[in-house]
Amino acid sequence: GELDKGDYEYFMLKEIYEQPKTIEETFRGRLKSDYSEIVLGGLMNVFPKIEAAQRIIIIGCGTSWHAALIAEYMMEEYARVPVEVEYASEFRYRKPVINSNDVVILISQSGETADTLAALHLAKEKGATVIGICNVVGSTLARETDAGVYTHAGVEIGVASTKAFTAQVTVLTMIALKLARRKGTIDPEEYKALVKELAAIPEKGRAILEGNEHIKRIAEKYYEAVNALYLGRGYLFPVALEGALKLKEISYVHAEGYAAGEMKHGPIALVDDNLPVVVVAPQDDYYEKVVSNIQEIKARKGNVIAIVTEGDTGLKELANDVIEIPKSHPAVAPLLSVIPLQLLAYHIALLKGCNVDQPRNLAKSVTVE
Ligand code: G6P
Repeated sequence: GELDKGDYEYFMLKEIYEQPKTIEETFRGRLKSDYSEIVLGGLMNVFPKIEAAQRIIIIGCGTSWHAALIAEYMMEEYARVPVEVEYASEFRYRKPVINSNDVVILISQSGETADTLAALHLAKEKGATVIGICNVVGSTLARETDAGVYTHAGVEIGVASTKAFTAQVTVLTMIALKLARRKGTIDPEEYKALVKELAAIPEKGRAILEGNEHIKRIAEKYYEAVNALYLGRGYLFPVALEGALKLKEISYVHAEGYAAGEMKHGPIALVDDNLPVVVVAPQDDYYEKVVSNIQEIKARKGNVIAIVTEGDTGLKELANDVIEIPKSHPAVAPLLSVIPLQLLAYHIALLKGCNVDQPRNLAKSVTVE
């Protein structure tokens, strides 16, 4: 059942393993079997507003904010609408410009995060259309938004979010693609191909989970590090942020996520033979650039753990360790590449003797300011 660990030592591991199934749950009944259409019943009435929006603002905290960043890249690329991503705690206090033709999307696993609810109230007050993406059915966010989409990831117990994140990204991907299709800003063939790619994620996720023992051995090599750096570009920059967040939340290792191209403006100064650098480096349009980032790290004796596309022999030579993921379209790659980062954080935390489900000082849902 949802509320027991079954054969798993911790809820977090169970929830990581559930992802192929929960991603499927998230798009169940929402993707037509011939990939021709995405059905989001909860947004039916507001879709004309979304289509007409001059701007979309996406708001969240923690992991939910990382999901928002991925959506920003996708909505701008495919739906050609300006998107802004905000931390709820900043937005609610900084006197933002909000117009009645803005659409504000609030993302929250719990639907109860105080800052996110305050941001919702502010956006509502200014007359924006407010849409909620949350996991907990009947939560405050779900009740107080104009419309919304449930993520259907099931109860998430681990404080560090895993399956709720991939469910959020799945929902946001569906919204972005549907919007692009309705606006005519995406080529119909590419649309279909992308929907198909999304539908193929659960199967590919299962293949990644089979590599768990290999990831555990990598964790054994690096768990004593006191700092770690995570790098990615494009859709995988937010994945780098999320990988670093997982590690710091549950293992208390200081970890930073960075856009790989920004490395030369600071983080490269930290690189020495004590620093593990996790680089999300699948074979996409950024591949050559990321490979040269890896070369720069290696030249400074950093230890590179690269997340690579299956069969990538070049990076196997260059990096200290590689974790393979199946090939996918770049826009859905976050759903795959985040899984090894969740497992890496999990094993490092376990090796350090940490309570991965209940990390110190953190709460599953922050309902106070
Ligand atoms: C807390 C949790 C995180 C979560 C964040 C936002 O910090 O520990 O895992 O990402 O709140 O929570 P929400 O429920 O709004 O997504």
